[in-house]
Amino acid sequence: MRCTLILAAAFFVTALALPARAVEKSKVEKIDFVRVIKPLLESSCVKCHGADRFHGDLRLDTKELAFASFGDLGRLIVPGKPLKSTLYTTSVLPDDDPLAMPLRDRDKLTKEQTEQLRLWIEQGAEWPEGVTLKRIDKVFFSIAASVFQRSCLKCHSMAKADGGVRLDNRMDAFKGGTKGPTIKPFDPAASTVFTSLSSPSVHDKNPPRLLTDEDIAFIKEWIRQGAVWPDDQKFIGTDSPAAEKPGQK
Ligand code: HEC
Ligand code: HEC
Repeated sequence: MRCTLILAAAFFVTALALPARAVEKSKVEKIDFVRVIKPLLESSCVKCHGADRFHGDLRLDTKELAFASFGDLGRLIVPGKPLKSTLYTTSVLPDDDPLAMPLRDRDKLTKEQTEQLRLWIEQGAEWPEGVTLKRIDKVFFSIAASVFQRSCLKCHSMAKADGGVRLDNRMDAFKGGTKGPTIKPFDPAASTVFTSLSSPSVHDKNPPRLLTDEDIAFIKEWIRQGAVWPDDQKFIGTDSPAAEKPGQK
């Protein structure tokens, strides 16, 4: 009797779980080239693989050139096959590999960013006609960290986590609050860390001091490029690069 019950229960649980998993799989979002992939490549790759400089003979600035590019390791983009596309495989090489891309960049791509590259290629590497890429300045984590340290940590760290928000460490900073994700990579409009600075009600009583329009623009652009917060800098502290000034390269 007990055995039958357990079996019945197991069957019931399985029956419930199966469709749920199927739904989850089909829910994988279609990656939007213009919103996600373009700013990522423009900020991390185009300065070395664009019109001015094209190391290894690879160019990423137009669709035609990107799809025709071929290096020692193979083709840059093979639609549907991320593991055969060096655009993806070189960006997931270990940091100490001499071909790990972006080369000599102190902020390597994050897992979220390389996942977007992988999914985009897997979904067919759609690149709308006529969309070209230009080099844009990367907003390094050190810049975001220095804004947080200067203007936010007073109220958003361990000692005082106003609104339940902490920005002094990576894990808490990315955790969502009741009003949605604090930091949603690639999507400033959905990240309260940005929207709270432009919506009047949140910081009315005690606006963050020393925060300039330029700082807000940096935070927005940092999120748009993918909100890189390196794994080895989990905390914003005295020995982090947070002491550097915004704008430093
Ligand atoms: C600071 C300059 C620099 C940046 C930034 C950079 N690259 Fe490179 N890349 C190079 C150089 C230099 C080479 C040639 C290396 C060689 O041939 O030894 C190269 C080669 C490559 C190759 C060719 C590998 C092969 O031999 O087939 C790929 C693919 C590549 N880069 C992708 C990227 C991607 C994707 C990004 C951005 C995530 C990126 N690169 C950012 C400098 C850079
Ligand atoms: C003087 C204290 C203070 C400073 C400095 C401060 N905040 Fe806040 N922040 C608050 C308080 C209080 C709340 C909670 C407001 C509420 O619950 O209505 C809050 C809420 C938030 C939220 C939650 C969003 C929401 O809609 O509730 C975010 C995100 C946030 N702050 C980001 C920041 C950022 C980014 C900075 C620095 C640029 C910053 N804060 C600086 C006091 C501060």
